[in-house]
Amino acid sequence: MAKGLFVTGTGTDVGKTYVTALIVKKLREAGLNAGYYKAALSGAERVDGRLVPGDAEFVRRAAGIAGDPLESVSRIYEHAYSPHLAAKIEGGPLRMETVREDFRRLSERYDPLTVEGSGGIVCPISFGEGERLMLADIVRGLGLPAVVVSGSGLGAINAAVLTVGYMRAHGMEPRAVIMNGWVPGGIIEEDNRMMIEELTGLPVAAAVERGADDIGIGAAELLKLYGGEIR
Ligand SMILES: Nc1ncnc2c1ncn2[C@@H]1O[C@H](COP(=O)(O)OP(=O)(O)OP(=O)(O)O)[C@@H](O)[C@H]1O
Ligand SMILES: [Mg+2]
Repeated sequence: MAKGLFVTGTGTDVGKTYVTALIVKKLREAGLNAGYYKAALSGAERVDGRLVPGDAEFVRRAAGIAGDPLESVSRIYEHAYSPHLAAKIEGGPLRMETVREDFRRLSERYDPLTVEGSGGIVCPISFGEGERLMLADIVRGLGLPAVVVSGSGLGAINAAVLTVGYMRAHGMEPRAVIMNGWVPGGIIEEDNRMMIEELTGLPVAAAVERGADDIGIGAAELLKLYGGEIR
């Protein structure tokens, strides 16, 4: 079974896809057959009548993964809503069995697998009669350790500490923070890095500048963040 890592963030649009692309690219450059998975993608663009899995396309293009990006996602919704709400409107609520099956299928083809979350860490995936799947259930269900992508500027301390605290309180295993939008030498950024490490007890494993084309740490170091087996 593939090694896996869950990439969450302090919120939507914080740079999970961008950072994941750099991680997967670095692993593939090191000769590993690294893959990508995202359970539920919302806000997909429709091109020629078909919904396009934007995050999967971005990561696979940057990392040089051939084949159909649709294999990297379980559900795509057109509405740019939380997945549970998009599913209420468009149908197709996602179940944990599907996540497990899709993850297992991909883990037969790729190793390691990097899994991107939807939104921040508190994200309802399916929520209705008989259905209740939260993003945290997916992280725990797949038994994946996690990294938290955070911003680097004002507000980053609060968002990173709350995310890490929530994850620990709900049985997840955050292993590192990755700061995005990093400004080397910035007075706020440098202090935020120190304060986030101090207050979460986690290392800031990488600091990614705007427009960066490299994650800035080696594949061996990245691999240490990954967990062994899926359950
Ligand atoms: N370091 C960076 N340099 C340049 N552009 C960036 C960087 N980080 C993020 N972006 C851009 O900012 C936007 C949001 O980033 P991204 O899509 O990675 O966020 P996300 O957390 O994956 O969002 P979602 O919750 O929708 O999955 C994208 O257009 C992305 O290309
Ligand atoms: Mg994304």
